[in-house]
Order: sequence, then C-alpha cells, then structure tokens
Amino acid sequence: KQEKLYTELCSEGAESEEMNQKEIEKYRKAGQIVSQIRKELPQIVKKDILLLELAEKIESRIIELGGKPAFPVNLSINEIAAHYTPSYNDEEKAHGLLKVDFGVHIDGNIVDNSVSFDLENSDENQKLIKTAEEALKKAIENAEKNSSLGEIGRAIQDVCEKNNFSPIKNLSGHGIEEYNLHSKPTIPNYDNKSNVLLNEGVYAIEPFVTKGIGEVYDGKPSGIYEVRGKGNIRDSNARKVFEFILEEYQTLPFCSRWIFKKFGARGLLSLRLIEASGALHQFSLLIEKSKMPVAQAEHTILIHKGKVEVLTE
Ligand code: CO
Repeated sequence: KQEKLYTELCSEGAESEEMNQKEIEKYRKAGQIVSQIRKELPQIVKKDILLLELAEKIESRIIELGGKPAFPVNLSINEIAAHYTPSYNDEEKAHGLLKVDFGVHIDGNIVDNSVSFDLENSDENQKLIKTAEEALKKAIENAEKNSSLGEIGRAIQDVCEKNNFSPIKNLSGHGIEEYNLHSKPTIPNYDNKSNVLLNEGVYAIEPFVTKGIGEVYDGKPSGIYEVRGKGNIRDSNARKVFEFILEEYQTLPFCSRWIFKKFGARGLLSLRLIEASGALHQFSLLIEKSKMPVAQAEHTILIHKGKVEVLTE
C-alpha cells in the first residue's frame, strides 16, 4: 500500500514538473507578444489619437500575435494612475502623461506590463517617466540579488526621492498565478520593512511615480469588472451574458466595451443586472490625491531555478 502511494506521489511530481515547463513556455510566448507590441507602440501612440482606437489596436494586435488580452488595455492620463479603459463610445483623446498598461495571457498564463508616454513635450513628465523606468530597473536588480520585499521597495523609493518625487505607496506590484492577475505577495513601491523573499514564480513589479503626495484614492467606476461570485440572475439575457463572461474571461478582468462589442446595448443592460446581483466587482479609477501627474513603468519577471528572467522586455 505504502509502495503504491509512493509511486503515485512520484508520478504526480513528474507530471507537475512537466506542466511547469509547458507553463513557462506559455509565459515566455506571452512575454514575446508584449515585447513585440512595446516595439510598435511609439508608432501608434500619438497625441490626439482616440483612446478608443488605441485600446482596440493594442487588443487586436495581441490576438493577431496569438495571445489574449489579460485585462482591458488601461490608458490612464495625468493624475489618473490606473484603471481608465475607454467605453464603447469614448471620445477622449490621447494627451498629457499617458500610461499604456496592458497584459497578455495564454491559457491563463499572464504577463503584465506598462509604458508611459509624454505627449506634451513636458520636461517634468519626461523626468517622471525616466524615474519610473530607473526605479523599475533597480527593483529588478534587487530581485536578482534575492533582496527582501522591503529592500525592493526601498530601491524604488530611493530612486524616486533622489529625483524629488514620491512613489505611490498604496499601489504595488504583485504575484501572478494562473488566471489570477493579482496574487500574493504585494511588491511594495516603498520600504515597508518586509523581510519576505520572493519564491520561484511570476511577479509584476510596477513603480508609480509622482510629484504629488504619493497616494491614490478611488474615483468614478471604471467600466472594468471581475467576477466575484455566482449571483442570482433571473433575467435570461443577463444569464447568457454572464455565461459568456465566465467562459471567456473566467476570473480575469473585462470591460463594458467588450460586452457592448459582443452583445450591443442589450449587453450593457445585462451587465447592470449582473452587477446588481452581486456577481461582479467593478473597479474604480485610481486618482492621485494631489491631482499631480503619475508615471508608471512595469515588467513581469519569472523566477525559475534561482534565476530572474524579465519576460516582457
Ligand atoms: Co500589474
């Protein structure tokens, strides 16, 4: 009996090791899609392009290259630090300090990244962007040295303060797991004194930098949602929409624009009913408290066999 158990354990181990290698290949493929799009972004991101057009271009490019958007493309401007995605009839145009935050997944293996653009020819914006990029670089170097979470946060904070800026303390990097965009641990953008070390796994590091006080608050609803429960949905159209959401996005974020594209105006009504049933969480815009522009830089790293690989470079 014991022998049988032992064999079972061994074969299970071998199988999960193999799965791991397959998963790693999917993470790498997702990372290559991101790298390719990052190269193309400077040609697409121009002042006054409709954010709607920009989001759709990036999302369709992800699909063309063989991935799926891991969440709606976030195009947040100036003091909006994150979570702005265009609605289906959005008329906002690109301007100011624009953060292009997008993710790609292959069978739930997600990579997350962000690039900031200054569309004003503003020295201050450019300095914010450079600082965010340098902070990210230093944070990755610390991950390579097997630093603690507190030390990684310290590195980010130091780069910001050296440039007379602040990191946004209540935004942070995060672990990534299958179909889970934000898993433990949080990777702080300041020294939170944590001694925790990063295990093998996939992590997003994302410093946010501002001249303001370095804190965000919840603004208006973003139109970005995530399934959080089953709900009790009586309306048959809404049930159909909910089934589509569960099938297509599972536990990943999606947006009203995507639902409009698939189901039209009736889809938006259904979305309201589903939300009212308690099955969805709707994210809020995240806005810098002193209304100062925010820059962001983000990469996803893989820690495997003690080595750090930047997947989205
Ligand atoms: Co992220």
